[in-house]
Amino acid sequence: MGRRHAVIGYGRLAAALVPALRAAGEDVVVGRRSPGDGELGVADAMRAADWVWLTVPDDHIAAIAAALPWRAGQLALHCSGATPLAALAPAPAAAGFHPLKLLAGDAGLAGAHVGIEADAAQQPVLQALAHALGLVPLALPAPMSGEARAAYHAAANLAASGVLAVLAEAQSLWVAAGLAPSDALPALTPLTRGALDTALARGLAGAVSGPVARGDAGVLARHLDALAAAGLDTDLLLALGRRQLALAEAAGRLDAAQLTALHALLGSR
Ligand SMILES: NC(=O)c1ccc[n+]([C@@H]2O[C@H](COP(=O)([O-])OP(=O)(O)OC[C@H]3O[C@@H](n4cnc5c(N)ncnc54)[C@H](OP(=O)(O)O)[C@@H]3O)[C@@H](O)[C@H]2O)c1
Repeated sequence: MGRRHAVIGYGRLAAALVPALRAAGEDVVVGRRSPGDGELGVADAMRAADWVWLTVPDDHIAAIAAALPWRAGQLALHCSGATPLAALAPAPAAAGFHPLKLLAGDAGLAGAHVGIEADAAQQPVLQALAHALGLVPLALPAPMSGEARAAYHAAANLAASGVLAVLAEAQSLWVAAGLAPSDALPALTPLTRGALDTALARGLAGAVSGPVARGDAGVLARHLDALAAAGLDTDLLLALGRRQLALAEAAGRLDAAQLTALHALLGSR
C-alpha cells in the first residue's frame, strides 16, 4: 500500500502542491481549520496520514507541530526556506521540501528547484517525489543551521522579490523621465530577461554591462544627478553600482584610471 499525505493549511503553496501530488498518483487528504467539501479537520487529516505537510505560514509551523497528535512512523514536512527542521521536533521524523518558486495565482511547481533537507534514509525518497512532481531536487545540508537557512532564504528572496524592488526603482526613474508609466514594465522587463539569459550562458561577470562595466564614470555621474533631481535617494543605485563594479573587476574589464573614478563616485574606496 502507498503512503498517504495530509496537507495541513490550504494557501498558495498547498494550492500548487496538492494537485501536483494527486497528478503524480499520490493519496492526499487536506486538513483545514474550517474544512470544506472533501476536506478534513486538521487532527483527523494528520491521524490518517504517513506524511504530514505543514503548509502554513512560517511563524505558525512550530506551534502547529507542537499541538498535533503525532504517532510513530509519521514524517512531518514543511515547505519553508527560512525555518530550521527543529520547528518540527515534536514529530517522530522531519524533512524540509522547499520549492524555489514564487507561488501566486495559477503558478504550478513544475520546473523549479526544490531544496530538500532530510536524513540519509529520506533524501532518496524525497528526491524521487521531486522528480515525480517535475521539480529539480537540490539536497540541502542536514542538519541546516538557522543561520544557514536564513542565508539560503535571503538568497532566494533577493533573486525573486529583490529583482522586483529593483524594477520598482527603474519604474520611478522611467516616470521621472516623463515617460508613460504603463510602458515601463513592458519596455524594461525584456532587459531583465536578456540579462538573466546572458548570465546563465556566461556567468554574472561575463554578463554585466552598462556604464559601470564599461568604465564610463561620466554617465554614472549623470545617473546619480538624475536620481537626485527626481527626488529619489541614491542608496540603491550606489549599492548596486558597487556590486557591478566588483563583477567588472572580476572580469578584468577596467583599467586603473577607470577603477579610481568609479570607486570615487560609488564611495567604495
Ligand atoms: N507562496 C510561495 O511562493 C511559497 C514558496 C515556497 C515556499 N512557501 C512556503 O509554504 C508555506 C505556506 O506558505 P503560503 O504562501 O502557502 O502561505 P499562505 O498562502 O498564507 O497560506 C497558508 C495557509 O495556512 C493556513 N493557516 C494559517 N494559519 C494557520 C493556523 N494557525 N493553523 C492552521 N492553519 C493555518 C491557512 O489555510 P486554511 O485556509 O486551510 O486554514 C492559510 O491559507 C510557508 O512555509 C512558505 O514559506 C511558499
